[in-house]
Amino acid sequence: MKKLMFIFGTRPEFIKLFPLIKEAEKRGNKVVVVNTGQHREMLSTLLTHFKVEADYDLKIMRQSSNLSDIVAGTISGLDPIVKTEKPDLILVHGDTAATLAGGLVAYFNQVQLAHVEAGLRTYNKYSPFPEELNRQMVGVLADLHFAPTAVTKQNLLKEGKDEENIFVVGNSAIDMFQYTLQDNYQHEALSWQADKAMILITAHRRENLEDLEQIFAAIGEIADEFKETHKIVYPIHLNPLIREKAKKLLSYTNIKIIDPLETVDFHNVMRHAQLILTDSGGIQEEAAHLGIPVLVLRDTTERPEGVTAGTLRLVGTSKANIVKETRRLLTDKKAYEEMANKENPYGDGTTAIKIMDIING
Ligand code: UD1
Ligand code: UDP
Repeated sequence: MKKLMFIFGTRPEFIKLFPLIKEAEKRGNKVVVVNTGQHREMLSTLLTHFKVEADYDLKIMRQSSNLSDIVAGTISGLDPIVKTEKPDLILVHGDTAATLAGGLVAYFNQVQLAHVEAGLRTYNKYSPFPEELNRQMVGVLADLHFAPTAVTKQNLLKEGKDEENIFVVGNSAIDMFQYTLQDNYQHEALSWQADKAMILITAHRRENLEDLEQIFAAIGEIADEFKETHKIVYPIHLNPLIREKAKKLLSYTNIKIIDPLETVDFHNVMRHAQLILTDSGGIQEEAAHLGIPVLVLRDTTERPEGVTAGTLRLVGTSKANIVKETRRLLTDKKAYEEMANKENPYGDGTTAIKIMDIING
């Protein structure tokens, strides 16, 4: 068995690495969990809920959300840990500051690196920013590439990665549903929704911060137009820039702005949504599994499989387009049905098993 070090710093990394941590422990590997602490509030409740105790918490405390500060602080926090623990393999996920810093520290210490959710690309270096180059750089550093789909494997091959180190394994976001979905689930947001249909909103991307007025104006117009039939639930990211604008622009009786939900709550609330408007990456995959159409509040996506499958549609950030596309789905049953219940291209929830089969040989 091996000594495996899992490094993560944000909510989605933990959500998608948790099934791997469980599987690695089940097989008797020595697991070392490192939380960089970047999402201190959004992660601490998750760790408690899923009973994961980090062996190390870097508590990256930021006065600002300056990317250089976050990456520099993470690298200098991780380096002594890797030197002390000397793992056989470091696993990082996706495209955040922790992914990049973890990848670099693995390389500097000549420790093997596995990249989970490898090969997602827009090839537009500022969209999403800074995630596109984070994942490209980690792609250069990694020894093992766990690609969720055939499309992502092709991206890696095009970039010259060795085929024998690329494994198509699905996305562990789907594995996570085994730990979260509950029958007879109750939540305040669902009681508030009552007999109306629900539109679920999330937004957090850095490159969208300047467009939030447009996005929120569109959501306001939709709330007004569909007030007899729909309620809008918006679990809002802890970024103060987003919260301030939302508080100012989204005061409608049929919009409920709530704190970020625990993932168990988020998944169970999400499955009741009729439609999702989001700029999130992970939610695009999860909604495909639940058969819920997603309008993606971005101009690019690294998840073209969802667009091809028909569950995702890119609508950008202009008010007119968001309203037009939402109205189309809410009023045209055929257009809605065409997007709902499509086949999920992100696997069958066995990603963690596949990855650990490969790692443990
Ligand atoms: C980060 C990742 C992004 C990922 C996203 C998932 C980087 C550079 N960005 O973006 O790739 O898609 O997480 O959600 O790694 N905040 C808190 N408490 C928290 C979390 C955030 O107060 O628990 C606030 C802080 O003011 C912080 C701001 O939110 O400065 C932004 O957080 P940050 O981690 O820098 O970026 P995200 O937009 O969350
Ligand atoms: N999520 C959550 N609570 C929320 C909103 C989202 O647990 O209030 C989960 C969601 O199910 C998904 C992940 O967080 O697994 C997505 O995170 P985010 O949108 O922050 O990041 P991205 O996927 O865009 O990197």
